[in-house]
Amino acid sequence: MKVRTVEFCGTVVVHDATMPGNLPQIAFSGRSNVGKSSLINRILGRTKKKIAHVSATPGKTQGLNFYEVNKAFFLVDLPGFGYARAPEHVRAEWRTLVEGYLARDDGACGVVHLIDARRDPTSQDRDMLAYLAQLGTPTVVAITKIDKLSWQKRKDVLPELIRELGLDPEQVIPLSSKTGEGRDELMDALETLVEAQGETPEDTADA
Ligand code: GTP
Ligand code: MG
Repeated sequence: MKVRTVEFCGTVVVHDATMPGNLPQIAFSGRSNVGKSSLINRILGRTKKKIAHVSATPGKTQGLNFYEVNKAFFLVDLPGFGYARAPEHVRAEWRTLVEGYLARDDGACGVVHLIDARRDPTSQDRDMLAYLAQLGTPTVVAITKIDKLSWQKRKDVLPELIRELGLDPEQVIPLSSKTGEGRDELMDALETLVEAQGETPEDTADA
């Protein structure tokens, strides 16, 4: 898929807000600092002139940020979870916002859940994957910052993560927003999710 147009369409800060448009949405989830905004910039070809805000300080993305791509779908940058210094009420607000949004019928048709290749998955990663499975939301797991692992290390880490989280290997894509590795594979996966969303029940019945 070629990215022809990208437009920032606003930030949603309450889970029951009106969506910025009636297009399929792909959301990016994962702990704070895992690289969600960086991955969105990479996908959109915005590595120099960034569109999604990237920061060395965790907790930078606070609301749900909508980026419209090719006037056909939205990429939604979710606020990161597990920001250690966030007070309890902020974490509770995060749950309401993110979980409420994901549960909406007009919410995400697919989710890219990011896990840092160098870190063990947390209970919050497990909770999020279980929640998405419960909702029946198709999920791609992006193992990111893979550029930071040696080839030897990645041979051990990837199968271990897949086993530990009980994932389907088909669902997992090693990625680097720094080198661009995995970008095209992820783009293909997103295209499939968006197309599946566009199908009416009759289309599916005919297939
Ligand atoms: P929040 O908005 O706080 O939830 O964080 P985020 O998940 O959006 O992370 P962000 O994209 O802001 O990246 C956090 C840091 O990780 C930045 O310093 C990025 O440059 C770095 N980073 C992100 N992806 C990669 C990657 O694939 N490789 C390397 N080496 N660094 C990365
Ligand atoms: Mg961010």
